[in-house]
Amino acid sequence: MTHDPMAELNPPPRLLMGPGPVNVDPRVLRAMSMPLLGQFDPVFTRYMNDTMALYRRVFKTKNRWTFVIDGTARAGIEAVIVSIVEPGDVVYVPNFGRFGHLLIEIAERAGAKVVSDERPWGTVFDPADIAKRIKALRPKLVAMVQGDTSTTMCQPLEGIGKACRAAGGFLYVDATASLGGNDLRVDEWQIDACTAGLQKCLSGPPGSAPITLSDRFVEAVNKRKHFERGIRPDDAKEGARPRIASNYFDLAMLMHYWGEMRLNHHTEAASMLYAARECARILLAEGLETAFARHAQASRAALAGIEAMGLEVYGDRRHKMANVTGIVVPRGIDGDAARAMMLKDFGIEIGTSFGPLKGKVWRLGAMGYACRKENLLLTLGALEATLRAQGYKIKSGRGVDAALAAYR
Ligand SMILES: Cc1ncc(COP(=O)(O)O)c(C=O)c1O
Repeated sequence: MTHDPMAELNPPPRLLMGPGPVNVDPRVLRAMSMPLLGQFDPVFTRYMNDTMALYRRVFKTKNRWTFVIDGTARAGIEAVIVSIVEPGDVVYVPNFGRFGHLLIEIAERAGAKVVSDERPWGTVFDPADIAKRIKALRPKLVAMVQGDTSTTMCQPLEGIGKACRAAGGFLYVDATASLGGNDLRVDEWQIDACTAGLQKCLSGPPGSAPITLSDRFVEAVNKRKHFERGIRPDDAKEGARPRIASNYFDLAMLMHYWGEMRLNHHTEAASMLYAARECARILLAEGLETAFARHAQASRAALAGIEAMGLEVYGDRRHKMANVTGIVVPRGIDGDAARAMMLKDFGIEIGTSFGPLKGKVWRLGAMGYACRKENLLLTLGALEATLRAQGYKIKSGRGVDAALAAYR
């Protein structure tokens, strides 16, 4: 069938139960359709300040410099790394999945000497081992992922920030996939820089990256402050360290844009700012701890349902993220064909996997707005029917019954 590029957009309704993006809360979509304002309109700058205040609560921090970067989650990652790393700096990455590799690649592009340790996919690090490495290596930056959707693992972070400070370095955490569904305590865990995206537990669309920076991190970034020539204030004080290599992701300039100076930088993605503000408002109105409990309950129900179907759960269950569950594709089943059938016959999307897990593991997400009992039950029921259609022997209803019981 030929497709007319002039056809009206009319995407089919889907239930997005993969590792993200997930279904956007309609309240966020509504916020995105609000009239645009000029970025220096006092009403708009008030919305920017609201967003800063709301994300301080989401990140559990008092950090003044808490705002959003326009771009998908990796925009936040790039902004942190390119703004702090100077060529030749040592960056340590404890890596346990695809997104650890992404941190390595971004740090290398910024000219870092990257040292990394790896754990087999499906496991995490003992934070004490990371602390020992930090003491020996004394890196300028430790960059790591909290929840790596590629393996469904959630890395414990306590003690790592303290070790970084003792060694004179900074701790950066990518919480893209975990924020809002798993506990994260930026101040208590002494995290210097942390970023996320909206498209997972925050129930928003991809395109805005919340970020928070400690005062000590900001001080280091400001040593590299160099104003764009065309907007440089007459009394500008510049830093002695080399200029940040990216203009778009220059955190020193971005802080002037978000701060009292409101120095022009990019044109703020106003609809995404509305979305980010609404995502935080919805999450905080529910309550962070209530949202964590909702995700944890869905995780328990998913585990019960999967096991009742005779399927194997992937990875170390003690360190599983609350919002994603890995399912080992049973022998004799074509994982991609099963996913295609779920999409075609049930309108439900679950995730495939990358790298060493490609074709071997499905990823079942229950996050943000989509993390609801009825969605999980529908997904398990659809998976069961799909597996039966592919010849997998299973007694009808077992998975759904077990998940329902876990919810009760
Ligand atoms: C842990 C983690 N980091 C980074 C990213 C990259 O995010 P984006 O695709 O929004 O740039 C993802 C996306 O799934 C992620 O799960």
